[in-house]
Amino acid sequence: MTRRQGSVHWSASQISREQRWGCLKTTGATVWMTGLSGSGKSSIAKHIEADLVEEGIAAYVLDGDNLRHGVNDDLGFSREDRRENARRAAEIAKLFADAGMVAVAALISPYAEDRARARALHEEAGLLFVEVYVCTSLAECEARDPKGLYAQARAGEIGEFTMVDDPYEVPVHSDLVLSTTDLSIDDAAHAVLDLLRRGLDRGSISG
Ligand code: ADX
Repeated sequence: MTRRQGSVHWSASQISREQRWGCLKTTGATVWMTGLSGSGKSSIAKHIEADLVEEGIAAYVLDGDNLRHGVNDDLGFSREDRRENARRAAEIAKLFADAGMVAVAALISPYAEDRARARALHEEAGLLFVEVYVCTSLAECEARDPKGLYAQARAGEIGEFTMVDDPYEVPVHSDLVLSTTDLSIDDAAHAVLDLLRRGLDRGSISG
């Protein structure tokens, strides 16, 4: 697949990002939640979205499972497909953030390179990007098995299942690491929201 032809040019907006955000009275950013299936990413993401919206801040969850029902429904779980899955999710999150919303992406995103690319994409565009590693252990995720997928993977009915017969590269550059074994979903969401608010105030997480 040819990704970009030389004949395709970027068409710049007629208004600035500040004007766009000013109209919504909000600030765009992306929260990227990574972790195993069943780790609690989606539950935390939904909680963050609900809290932000209640505060009057536009937010939207980009859930891996849900994206795979639409824009990513042509992708499976090979290395190459997961890479493309993360690339598209990062591009969509960037558009949401640029538009002035808080995009909360919840994807296993098992490869460090893909997560780094998502961060770089945002930082190059001057957009806040917060990576949160939901470090709930495999044993805990498998004991929960909310969709019965670990059992199916162990029985050999699903292949390429993360941490059963596919890798997960543990993040080393996350802005926040939390486990839903020690923390309630509520407390985990508040920890992310605190970090996000600090970043939005300063314009960066580290600044
Ligand atoms: S990612 O690895 O490409 O980032 P993504 O977050 O989009 O994954 O989708 C993961 C979800 O797909 C899991 O939560 C699970 O419900 C489902 N799933 C189905 N097959 C697999 C598989 N082989 N590995 C991981 N998750 C799978």
